[in-house]
Amino acid sequence: MILVKNSLDILMSKGFSTSWIRMRLPYDNIARSTILKNYITRKYPSFDINLVDVGCGSGNFIVWSINQSLFFKECLLIDNNQYLLDDIKSNIKANIKKTLTIKTKRNNKYHLITGKDKVLSELKIKRMDIKKINNFPDGFNIISLSAIVDLMSKSILNKILSMVDENNTLFCSLCFDGTVKWKPSHTHDKYILKFFNDNQMTQKSMGVALGFTAIDYLKNRAKKLNMKIKMCKSPWLIDNKSLVNRKFILRYLLDVKKSLFCMEGIDKDILRKWYIDKKKCIDKKEISLLVGHQDILLYK
Ligand SMILES: C[S@@+](CC[C@H](N)C(=O)[O-])C[C@H]1O[C@@H](n2cnc3c(N)ncnc32)[C@H](O)[C@@H]1O
Repeated sequence: MILVKNSLDILMSKGFSTSWIRMRLPYDNIARSTILKNYITRKYPSFDINLVDVGCGSGNFIVWSINQSLFFKECLLIDNNQYLLDDIKSNIKANIKKTLTIKTKRNNKYHLITGKDKVLSELKIKRMDIKKINNFPDGFNIISLSAIVDLMSKSILNKILSMVDENNTLFCSLCFDGTVKWKPSHTHDKYILKFFNDNQMTQKSMGVALGFTAIDYLKNRAKKLNMKIKMCKSPWLIDNKSLVNRKFILRYLLDVKKSLFCMEGIDKDILRKWYIDKKKCIDKKEISLLVGHQDILLYK
C-alpha cells in the first residue's frame, strides 16, 4: 500500500500530490484569516448561499469552511486532477467534527449531514480544466480561489474577474506574496528566493503564472473595475517544536530544491549547500519558517 501511494506521488509529481495537499491542511487552517466569515455574516446573515471552489484540490478550503461553521447550501468543487478529487471525501471525513457525516449520493454528489438526517450542504465534484470555464452557473454567491491565484495567468484572472458581478464575491485566499523568511537565516536565502519567485512566474497549467505579482495585479484590476477590495495577511508560521512541523519544513525544503534544480542559471553548488545547511538546522531543531500569504476579498 505504501509503495502504491509513493509511486502515485511520483506519478503526480508534475501536478500536486495528495500527500502535499493533505500535509498543508493544518498550516493553511491556522493561516486563513477571518475576512470571509466576517463578510458572509454581515452580508448573508441567513447563510442561504452557494459556493464554487475553483482548483479545489482535495477540498482543504471546504474542510476549513465546515470547521468555521460556514455551511454553503450548494458547493461546486472543481479541479482537473482526478487523484485530488478522489481524495475529497476522505479528506473531509478525516478533518471535520465527528458530529457531522458525509454521505455519498449519485453522480459525484455528497451530502454533509448533521444529527439524524439534516442536510447542511450538498457538494458536487466536477473534473474540469479552469481554462475551459466561461461562466459560473447562476446562484453561486462566493467564488473561491484558494492557494491558486499565484499559479494563474493574467488572462485567466481577467476571465474570472469578468464573472464577478453584484450577485457574487470573489475570495482569493492564501495568495503567496513572495516572502519566505527562515530563522536562522542563511547567506543564500535571498539568492534562492529570487530563483523561487522567478520559477513561480514561468509557464504553468494556466499559462505564464503571475506568481506573487498576482496580488498587485488583482489590486490594480479591482480598482479599474470599480470593485471593492479587502485584504488580510494569512502567513504560514511554522516553528521547530514538533516532529510534524519539522517534517513539513523538510518537505517544503525538498520541493523548493527539486523545483529549482533544473532552472537555467542556477548555481547548483549554492543550491546544494543551502539545502544541506537548512537540513542540518531542521535536524538540530533550530529552524522556523514564515511563508507570506494574503487573503483577498473582491466584490462590486
Ligand atoms: C496549491 S493547490 C490548492 C488546492 C486547494 N485549492 C487548496 O486550497 O488546498 C492548486 C490546485 O490547482 C489545481 N489546478 C492547477 N491547474 C489547474 C487547471 N488548469 N484546472 C483545474 N485545476 C487546476 C491543482 O490541481 C491543485 O489542486
